Amino acid sequence: MAVERLQKILSNAGVASRRSAEAMIAAGRVAVNGEVRSAPGSRADPERDEITLDGEPVRRDRYRYVALHKPAGTLSTARDDRGRPTVLDLVPAEGPALHPVGRLDQASEGLILLTNDGALTDLLTHPRHEVRKEYLVAIDQPLGKRGRERLTRGVRHEGERLKADAVRAASPGGPDAPADPRWLLIALHGGRKREIRRMLAVVGRRVTALRRVRIGPLALGGLAAGESRELAPAEVDALYAAARRPKRGSMKRGPNRMDARHPHPIAIDGPAASGKSTLGRALMERLGLALLDTGLMYRAVALAALRAGVDAADADACARLAREGGMEVAAPPGGEARIRLAGEDVTDLLRGPEVEAAVSACAAAPGVRRELVARQRAFAAERPAVLVGRDIGSVVLPDAPVKFFLDAPGAVRARRRGEQSAEWGEPRTTGEAGRDIGGRDEVDSTRAHGPLLAPADAVALDTGALDREAMIAAALAAIAARAGRSP
Ligand code: DC
Repeated sequence: MAVERLQKILSNAGVASRRSAEAMIAAGRVAVNGEVRSAPGSRADPERDEITLDGEPVRRDRYRYVALHKPAGTLSTARDDRGRPTVLDLVPAEGPALHPVGRLDQASEGLILLTNDGALTDLLTHPRHEVRKEYLVAIDQPLGKRGRERLTRGVRHEGERLKADAVRAASPGGPDAPADPRWLLIALHGGRKREIRRMLAVVGRRVTALRRVRIGPLALGGLAAGESRELAPAEVDALYAAARRPKRGSMKRGPNRMDARHPHPIAIDGPAASGKSTLGRALMERLGLALLDTGLMYRAVALAALRAGVDAADADACARLAREGGMEVAAPPGGEARIRLAGEDVTDLLRGPEVEAAVSACAAAPGVRRELVARQRAFAAERPAVLVGRDIGSVVLPDAPVKFFLDAPGAVRARRRGEQSAEWGEPRTTGEAGRDIGGRDEVDSTRAHGPLLAPADAVALDTGALDREAMIAAALAAIAARAGRSP
């Protein structure tokens, strides 16, 4: 076999895209025959050389990883003697033969993983490593708090103890719809037969619909029943990272908490349009953390000031609005926080040019910062979360176990913000966006209270040099490294 560039070998092995592989090589994570090769253009012979990533041998075969939304009625086995439809009938047949990872009852629907990677299958299904899965469950009659708590304490059924990690009232209408007691979100590690249906039978409820919505870091997302998609290399990395971590028996668990099995809270700071929200959202989706973009809270104070006819430079008036303007921050587990002002959800109004022009002045007011920092700390204390902002790693959460500081050249950020502004329905040219960003950077970096700065212990990511996938892969690797070190 010919000698090939390392990034090609890694991407052929399904480890990462070529761009992500280049970043892994540059970061010194790849070795050939025990020697780290970080120079661009390094080569090896995949047949003869031993190539490792983070000390683990790179697999030579080509692997496929497919996420499928199994419809109710389809069997989750690979084959059926009676010729009934199985999950394999729903994914394109090209390439190596796939097998389902674990099972999902015939009557249930939702996320199932198909692959030919036996090592990942073993990790994901081994009882010692089983990753947490979440199910959206419809029941015939409401189940109150007491009933939900019984499930998290554990019930007995036919000699077996059945126990959920977490149970909460949920809603089929998405994170913003009010919870409906006839819908539950149940998190489990177990894979006992019909476990959810049986534990609900013990508390006198019948399951009328059951959909798996998450396997560890992987969410069902927008996949419709019967649809499938190939996983991105970073998602495969995240599954390996989640499955490799042995179960922590001592983990503290409140009855209704969806605690993530990752170090948290995670802090992401950086100037405007440096990629913070993109990374925050990716970590939310892949690690199941709630996301709070704290810029939205400062923006909500600016909106309140505009509505009240208050000058954004009036620090005392802004501080009063922050304290008494009726701001509420709410996020579903593993979802994105939305902001209400006096009961009205204003999240989608916070990106307009008036707010954009006023926000930095409001954010410089010490009383505003004091109030919002306290609320942000409370948010992070109440659930596993990732927080995005300007002072998260330095002021709000100085003890966060993982911190990122993102930056990119001004011209890159101006172009990005110009593109975003069109998506937000307030189109601006790159020049206009650049002037906005420049002005905000100036105020945000020079204000006396909570100025933008890179915490010394933050992982710095230059998002001008990394594409989206490479940025996410680098962040997941940093989180996995931190998780490996934590007790
Ligand atoms: O991230 P963003 O552009 O939505 O932030 C809006 C403004 O809020 C920004 O100009 C600075 C301010 N901000 C802050 O001072 N501290 C934070 N933690 C987040 C945002």
